[in-house]
Amino acid sequence: MSKIAVYPGSFDPVTNGHVDIIRRTSRLFDRVIVAVSNNAAKNHTFSVNERIQMLVHSTPRLGNVSIDSFSGLLVDYLHSKKAQVLIRGLRVVSDMDYEFQMASINRQLYPKMETVFLMPDERYTYLSSSIIKEVARLGAQIKSFLPPPACRMLYSRLKQRNRKEES
Ligand code: COA
Repeated sequence: MSKIAVYPGSFDPVTNGHVDIIRRTSRLFDRVIVAVSNNAAKNHTFSVNERIQMLVHSTPRLGNVSIDSFSGLLVDYLHSKKAQVLIRGLRVVSDMDYEFQMASINRQLYPKMETVFLMPDERYTYLSSSIIKEVARLGAQIKSFLPPPACRMLYSRLKQRNRKEES
């Protein structure tokens, strides 16, 4: 039976840290589904479709990786995709409380699944989507933190917002 892993997240925007985790996952499993969370309660910078496009263009050479979106319970999504493995990236010790809580609840809801934690490359340990948006808004170079398609889309979104604020 082929092993299918789901890597969920907001990806608002996708960072090099996320791409690093996707690459590592694609070497370990037969199929990887990167699942963009469609949570209307969160105030995202990019729409679900924009986040999907960013991911598609940032992972073009990984043949066993597909990009999708989901809403509702993550375990229901895993079940619908016949996926047994949930991937989460663990960057620093402070990620652990939240991640262990999610893993434990998810396992109680769907005992057949396992959460697998992967560590991104040390260069990306302190990376998060909101910190990159913050420094980009304040004029810092973000090329080393985001894949080029995400970088372009973020700069263009910031320009749009600046224009709106000025008018
Ligand atoms: N590199 C860089 N940044 C990373 C990273 C990595 N490898 N891994 C995580 N991050 C950052 C993200 O950029 C994000 O930063 P931000 O908060 O500044 O935007 C932060 O860590 C959290 O990331 P993410 O993995 O996207 O988690 P999330 O909390 O946004 O999403 C879901 C978590 C979608 C998996 C979870 O909310 C969920 O399962 N929702 C569905 C509903 C459900 O089933 N709930 C019950 C769960 S028990």
